[in-house]
Amino acid sequence: MKIDKFKVEEWFNKYEHKAVYDLADTCVESLSIDELLKIAKLNNTNEIFSRKLNYGDIHGSEKLKELIANLYEKQNSQNITITHGAIGANQLVMLTLIEPKDKVVSIIPTYQQHYSIPKSIGADVKILKLKEENNWLPELDKLEQLVSNNTKIICMNNPNNPTGAVIPDEMLEKIVDIARKSDAYILCDEVYRGLCHNEKKPFSKSIADMYEKGISTSSMSKVFSLAGLRLGWVCANEKIIDQINHQREYNTISVGILDDYFSCLAIENKEQIIKRNISKILEGKCILEQWLKNENKADCVLPNAGTTAFVRYNMPVKSTELCKRLQDDTGVMILPGETMEMDNYLRIGYGNNPEKLKKALEIFSKWLNLNFTQA
Ligand SMILES: Cc1ncc(COP(=O)(O)O)c(C=O)c1O
Repeated sequence: MKIDKFKVEEWFNKYEHKAVYDLADTCVESLSIDELLKIAKLNNTNEIFSRKLNYGDIHGSEKLKELIANLYEKQNSQNITITHGAIGANQLVMLTLIEPKDKVVSIIPTYQQHYSIPKSIGADVKILKLKEENNWLPELDKLEQLVSNNTKIICMNNPNNPTGAVIPDEMLEKIVDIARKSDAYILCDEVYRGLCHNEKKPFSKSIADMYEKGISTSSMSKVFSLAGLRLGWVCANEKIIDQINHQREYNTISVGILDDYFSCLAIENKEQIIKRNISKILEGKCILEQWLKNENKADCVLPNAGTTAFVRYNMPVKSTELCKRLQDDTGVMILPGETMEMDNYLRIGYGNNPEKLKKALEIFSKWLNLNFTQA
């Protein structure tokens, strides 16, 4: 199967190992096993070390599926299947539902899977581009024009990477109406759902709770700071989950009993972990906001969720060129918007180490002043 290069992941492969200041990362500082055990107040580790490393429950343990179902409003364990990260979840959904010549609408910027996999399957992919002047929210009239009565699926990402925009509930309802008229599925990558910048209400609405053909994908990577577990899931109606499991038998077997076990521990302690993460995110966002106030070569619509901001710059240089030169000269790694089909933008991750963020943004500004005199 031919498929386009995954630009973001290839950029990471090329540059991340030599970054001194990594502002391309999308994770809040990851938890160690020790930290997780401490949060879970688990002193007796026999329970872990005595485990036999067999395949475990093939579609994920019942306990894990129940815990995940409780992250939604109207779901139960039969609505969940466990996957190899959200990346595995998205791929499984698309391989299950999309066939050559199907019509697909994808909203960008987004994680590249959402347009490159359908294209590689031979689907006809129509793109709706989000615009900064609309606060990165989709234009519903344009979406309506792109969705025809034989559209198979709408692929979207909410809260959005890279912009950090969250689609308001009423707008999501209208997107559901558009999909329903065409009997289209909606695949919503919700990997940042749980990281809204509001400690009291970190979870935005899920498409799976709003629409009978709504499919939510997510994982332990962002909300729980446990990307190393490589554990994700699909949440959808039982019929869709059955279809996905049929496809899944060919590429997953199980995700591994330790990943399952640690994921259960983390979700059981979700309040504490999410509180930690939102507090780190808000600290980073404050630093970013302050930097933007003083940096006249960059601007952005501030994010409402997640860990990244999509920053516009006004210099006559391609984003790949800018990021490459910046990193070669200073060790500061930022993700070029071109890797997400949006030149003149840079994705800045602000959820990691606040001291490093502050320092890296200072270095970035000095470098901009040295290299670009005109704003
Ligand atoms: C929008 C989005 N979807 C999916 C993924 C993949 O996540 P996972 O680590 O769970 O495979 C990422 C990772 O950055 C992402 O940003």
